Amino acid sequence: MQQLTVDLGTRSYPILIGDGLLGDIGRHVAPLLKRPRTMIITDAHVADPYLARVGMALGAEGISFSSFVLPAGEATKSWEGLARLTEWLIGEGIERSDHVIALGGGVIGDLVGFACSIVKRGCSFIQVPTTLLAQVDSSVGGKTAINVAAGKNLIGAFHQPALVVIDPTTLATLPARELGAGYAEVVKYGLIDDADFFAWCEAHGAALLKGDGEARAHAIAHSVAAKARIVAADERETQDVRALLNLGHSFGHALEAETGYSDRLLHGEAVAAGMVLAHQFSAAKGLCAAEDAARVRDHLASLGLPHSLASAGINSGGAALAAHMAHDKKVRGGKLPLILTRGIGRSFVTEDYGLDTVAEFLDGQA
Ligand SMILES: NC(=O)c1ccc[n+]([C@@H]2O[C@H](COP(=O)([O-])OP(=O)(O)OC[C@H]3O[C@@H](n4cnc5c(N)ncnc54)[C@H](O)[C@@H]3O)[C@@H](O)[C@H]2O)c1
Ligand SMILES: [Zn+2]
Repeated sequence: MQQLTVDLGTRSYPILIGDGLLGDIGRHVAPLLKRPRTMIITDAHVADPYLARVGMALGAEGISFSSFVLPAGEATKSWEGLARLTEWLIGEGIERSDHVIALGGGVIGDLVGFACSIVKRGCSFIQVPTTLLAQVDSSVGGKTAINVAAGKNLIGAFHQPALVVIDPTTLATLPARELGAGYAEVVKYGLIDDADFFAWCEAHGAALLKGDGEARAHAIAHSVAAKARIVAADERETQDVRALLNLGHSFGHALEAETGYSDRLLHGEAVAAGMVLAHQFSAAKGLCAAEDAARVRDHLASLGLPHSLASAGINSGGAALAAHMAHDKKVRGGKLPLILTRGIGRSFVTEDYGLDTVAEFLDGQA
């Protein structure tokens, strides 16, 4: 087992990573509890393979639990899902010092985290991420949210978990497409500030996606360490540090919005294409070498991930895509900060380019 720490003073918390940790989770949860009782929240796809295993491991430590299984899918991260979950937690007699367990992907993690930020004015929760995306990204950092009619993740809170438990063996049941989407976020850490890690991805990404345990373990630990470092440096994204995690996301969000946030294009798939576009835009503006942009595109393409507008299933014009970007919640004073790059692993934040320039660039892309 590996242990990392998210260093946030009194709100610091450990991240445990290890194959088979789910079967041992009680031992790590028990010391946090004031009374031997917890609540597990999960979704319908995750409950079947993993809920009983977690329950047994808690039982072995004398911890009783009740569980709530929500429907799988993004629609669960909604006012309705939040209402159902918070009412259920209250009905279960939750106490402020209790620790709720979020067992699932980013949807469950974001919803449970937000619910726990408001139930009884805040109770604790534990992230047990079961998708690659959640293991390398959403389970760490304390961003929680639900979606509303006007857009994704617009209602939420910063609320850090008390513990993150990552068992990479849970990825064995994850659909290949979800695994690929999560992998895009792994590559992102290399592109942000770690050229060596991008080179590692080029060499080992294919093995990881085929289920190689060693490659998987390395990628998760390395990615989570990067996320933990960034969050510790800029927890609330008030400087430009945490904003770098949005590399590929402004372009990606435009693609997601254009495909109606549907399963036509998963979030990580949109980020894959978005990272290529961010590099190509940087190259077009003379900021980075065209070869670097080509390297990013080739790596993602070689693994079957979207790497262009066409391969992401988009044939809309630049103006339509840029219009989505104008609604990004990162817009400040009418300007959208873009994450661009000077080369592999040399990303930076800039407000030098207007959305008209972006629209013109996208018009020239296929
Ligand atoms: N809070 C953050 O910092 C942050 C960062 C990135 C993304 N997010 C959010 O995360 C969400 C996406 O997360 P996601 O990609 O994990 O999606 P998800 O939670 O919807 O999981 C994807 C699918 O895989 C299923 N699943 C999960 N684990 C499984 C397993 N081990 N075996 C089989 N099936 C499994 C789920 O039921 C679902 O159908 C989005 O809502 C996004 O906004 C949040
Ligand atoms: Zn993302």
